[in-house]
Amino acid sequence: MGESTLGEPALTESVPLLEVRGVSKYFGGVNALRDISLQVHPGEVTCVLGDNGAGKSTLIKILSGVFQPDSGDLLIDGTPVTLAGPREARGHGIATVFQDLATVPLMSLWRNFFLGQEPTRGWGPLRRIDTARARSVMRAEVLRMGIDIRDPNQSVGTLSGGERQALAIARAIYFGARVLILDEPTSALGVRQSGIVLKYIAQAREQGKGVIFITHNPHHAYPVGDRFFLLKRGRVLADVRKAGTSVSELTELMAGGAELAELSAELMGPDHGAATGEAGQAAEIGREIAREAAHAEEVLGGAKPAAPLDE
Ligand SMILES: Nc1ncnc2c1ncn2[C@@H]1O[C@H](COP(=O)(O)OP(=O)(O)O)[C@@H](O)[C@H]1O
Ligand SMILES: [Mg+2]
Repeated sequence: MGESTLGEPALTESVPLLEVRGVSKYFGGVNALRDISLQVHPGEVTCVLGDNGAGKSTLIKILSGVFQPDSGDLLIDGTPVTLAGPREARGHGIATVFQDLATVPLMSLWRNFFLGQEPTRGWGPLRRIDTARARSVMRAEVLRMGIDIRDPNQSVGTLSGGERQALAIARAIYFGARVLILDEPTSALGVRQSGIVLKYIAQAREQGKGVIFITHNPHHAYPVGDRFFLLKRGRVLADVRKAGTSVSELTELMAGGAELAELSAELMGPDHGAATGEAGQAAEIGREIAREAAHAEEVLGGAKPAAPLDE
């Protein structure tokens, strides 16, 4: 960091750790992303908001090397790159925590923490996993996130959802992530557990990481976010800094989209699920959004996160 290139603008902003410029992505006839530009800066939380089908996961899959963009550029530290896959992204310090694939339920906590990158001792045929060290490192790292593991041998399945996310985040940070991408880490969690995950996001920011937090919940995004990026059906609906918006404005933007989609679903009638083309897809997305909105309302009751963000 800190190296400056010719023609760079004044040092008002750092070089983005990660950036996409004018990225588009198609799946057959579906234009999942259209001309998207986004920058991830160190020590900032960039929230990507949007309802189902908005293109959030597609965007983070491009950022984490799972997909290649059909057009546009991906830049790491200001340099255009082509990533062959997630492993290469990890090599650049970009770690992605997927909602369901973050941890393996039956595996012990310490094995899950290392997953093939265990510390070893001895050489050649005598080389083996240093289990004592692996256990103590894992315990110490997770303790840094405020979780005191009694037994590193206990299985991941014994942890709560929030603790599992914390384990995955601690692992990403331990293995040197500079950019942490979290795909809907709070969507399956209760209010209290969501609060815990939000606290870890704030911690990662304080450590100078660039964080991308994907969610469809403005009440989760607003307290930790520095920048809000609203996607709707592959397009940018809004790109605002915290100072330029409020939780109610974000909610309104999101809800406006849901209402329109719900209305279009109603107008299409209930039997258009099998319809093809744009209209059928819009109706399906509309129904999905309506279910989601009802669920979110049920779970959160429009409340603020229960746990305080700093202490
Ligand atoms: N692998 C895929 N093959 C075909 N279509 C896909 C694929 N992944 C995503 N899509 C489509 O791209 C659009 C955006 O999906 P996605 O990025 O998963 O949205 P989100 O994560 O915001 O819910 C949707 O219309 C979805 O059906
Ligand atoms: Mg998704």
